Amino acid sequence: MTEAIPAILEEIRAEMAARTDRGTPADYIPELAAIDPGQFGLSVVLADGSQHSAGDTAIPFSIQSISKVFALAIALGHHGDRLWARVGREPSGLAFNSILQLEHERGIPRNPFINAGAIVVTDAALAGHAPREYLGELLTFIRAAAGDEDVHINADVARSETETGHRNFALAHFMRAHGNLTNAPELALGAYFHQCAIEMTVDQLARAGRFLMGARPRLISADRVRRINALMLTCGHYDGSGDFAFRVGLPGKSGVGGGILVIAPGRASIAVWSPGLNEQGNSKLGTEAVEMLARRLGWSIFG
Ligand code: DON
Repeated sequence: MTEAIPAILEEIRAEMAARTDRGTPADYIPELAAIDPGQFGLSVVLADGSQHSAGDTAIPFSIQSISKVFALAIALGHHGDRLWARVGREPSGLAFNSILQLEHERGIPRNPFINAGAIVVTDAALAGHAPREYLGELLTFIRAAAGDEDVHINADVARSETETGHRNFALAHFMRAHGNLTNAPELALGAYFHQCAIEMTVDQLARAGRFLMGARPRLISADRVRRINALMLTCGHYDGSGDFAFRVGLPGKSGVGGGILVIAPGRASIAVWSPGLNEQGNSKLGTEAVEMLARRLGWSIFG
């Protein structure tokens, strides 16, 4: 079946190139609003280490919320299961930047992938270090996972995120008021905005996802791999998580830059990028492309 992958990827690329309804790129910062929605890239790394790609596979894009997966791996490395006293493991059913549940739930965010939860995770990952040191650790982790040193933070994106991040500041201050933020909001958010501004190509991102498919490099324990995949399946697409599980049947984490990292446990790490977003803020064609790929290859975790 895997021999057919190059042809299947090319078919998906051609089908996506023909689409006129491509969703809308994020427009809250100029760097994302300026991106050409006509771009599309798809890359697959198999368990045997081989990689197959189609489309715009060498253009770096802003990984945004996909960074939350790597940050979670690092925070769990520092704190282990103690992290779960500060952040839940339930889908939120609400938008990624919603503040609604936080008041009812006394500053404990529902899960590590909504913004509130990710800010707590980054706050924990700082673990007494300066943001610069944490970002160095995060980049080292991602570069090791991808087997590629050429992964960087886009400073303009980080600056724009800081200038427009009023909701994130509100979330951080609210959690600080509830005692669930150990660093000053400016410090935790400085680290968070910079991690969101990391740029990668789909080729790099698919390779970076290998540690979540149970393949080498083994950067975290098998137990943590299983748990992070479970969270990606249930919470990785916010209020679109149920629909993504229904359509694709694989754990995935999206970002407003239009990227999605998808894991077929034991089989493959998949990265897709198409900048136009659907109503939940997840890549529209990216979702459709991985739905087609998973179906053609029979890769659902549900059999
Ligand atoms: O914090 C934010 O709102 C953005 N930097 C990242 C949000 C994001 O990627 C949501 N995912 N679809």
